[in-house]
Amino acid sequence: MSEAVTAPAASPAVRLPPATRVPKLVCGLFFATSRRWMIKRLARRYGNVFSINLPMFGRVVVVGEPELAKQIFTTSPEELGNIQPNLSRMFGSGSVFALDRDDHRRRRRLLASPFHGKSMKNYESIIEEETLRETAGWPEGQPVATLPSMMHITLNAILRAVFGAHGAELDELRRLIPPWVTLGSRLAALPKPTWTYGRFSPWGQLAKWRRQYDVVIDKLIAAERADPNFEDRTDVLALMLRSTYDDGSIMSRKDIGDELLTLLAAGHETTAATLGWAFERITRHPDLLAALVEEADNGGNELRQATILEVQRARTVIDFAARRVYPPVFQLGEWTIPRGYSIIVSIAQIHNDPNVFAHPERFDPQRYLGTKPSSFAWIPFGGGTRRCVGAAFANMEMDVVLRTILRHFTIETTSAPGERWHCRGVAYTPKDGGRIVVRRR
Ligand code: HEM
Repeated sequence: MSEAVTAPAASPAVRLPPATRVPKLVCGLFFATSRRWMIKRLARRYGNVFSINLPMFGRVVVVGEPELAKQIFTTSPEELGNIQPNLSRMFGSGSVFALDRDDHRRRRRLLASPFHGKSMKNYESIIEEETLRETAGWPEGQPVATLPSMMHITLNAILRAVFGAHGAELDELRRLIPPWVTLGSRLAALPKPTWTYGRFSPWGQLAKWRRQYDVVIDKLIAAERADPNFEDRTDVLALMLRSTYDDGSIMSRKDIGDELLTLLAAGHETTAATLGWAFERITRHPDLLAALVEEADNGGNELRQATILEVQRARTVIDFAARRVYPPVFQLGEWTIPRGYSIIVSIAQIHNDPNVFAHPERFDPQRYLGTKPSSFAWIPFGGGTRRCVGAAFANMEMDVVLRTILRHFTIETTSAPGERWHCRGVAYTPKDGGRIVVRRR
């Protein structure tokens, strides 16, 4: 008797969402310079799911629906992997941004303990101290842009809490990192040349800063190891130096340098930008501001937490999270997307969708009083296995900075129009730096 031979199931036919006819180079230019505007325009024309063709990334499906975001974030990394190229171009191959599948899982496990919600209490006093030090020089009764100060606070907070840096090394990193992050962010959306074209080119400048940074990191590592209390230290550098992977291996010196740089760059500008927006928003809502002050004085934080959630929804600083299709095809809702395509979850588009958030244009922290936001509609930290590793740290930091400033300053309200968006390359900041007028209390 002959056995029936079952033909291998044919791959389902590719079914792609509508594609824009805008040429690849033009798309790339807009993506690098006016991403939010471009995605909004295209979504208005093609709907919540459409595809574009971009230099560096190739074919990309842009998704602006929570249901599909949920599917993307809950799909295994074996199917939806790491976008290529990614930010490890700036940080090095040892960065968590470079890793995929098992390597990524191992690194995330290693990073979990210092960034776990429970470890946060230890860092609060550092943040408060940095906030008081930075704001001590704020002039009274005249506009002050909060963003530069927030950049200093968040940088110092990470350097101290995450790096355990102090003294000469802390000063050196404080000097090196800000211009590096600013230039790196601008270059992140551009193709990386094979050659740096000399030390006066932007890429050459980044390479020079990296060499200087490595010298400081070597000194920091030596100082940490020499500390008699090394075994008790809770900064991330000490944890990385002490930690071992499941197979007993340790993180290499290069990987530690790449990862520390990643945490610094990913953690400092994003948190500062959100804080800048927080000041920009609360000065334009007098009742909210008065209630926040009263709550800070009385030791509560429910409204402050709701305000932070709403700032992150209404003024999203990182506008997308991206993945790449690995299997021959990936079924996303009604679409069948072939291997090699990238998928971008348009965070900003979802946060501004009236079908998802009623009156999305309204800044209204009341939305979150007594309720938690949906983890697939409120997604400023992305989602799934690659969700922002520093989310709890960022939340704690924003809470402490806001609380400290509300307790020590009276912030004047304003009826001036809201500030416009400014793209720094990766993060979006308020165009005038989140200006406020303050008086000491
Ligand atoms: C308000 C502040 C922040 C925002 C809005 C933000 C946003 C994001 C987003 C959207 C992603 C991509 C997630 C995805 O692909 O699903 C991400 C990843 C990441 N963030 Fe943040 N972030 C913030 C603060 C921080 C802080 C404070 C740190 C570290 C101290 C940090 C470190 C990272 C790292 C290392 C990744 C890569 C995670 C991975 O690939 O596994 N971020 N962040």
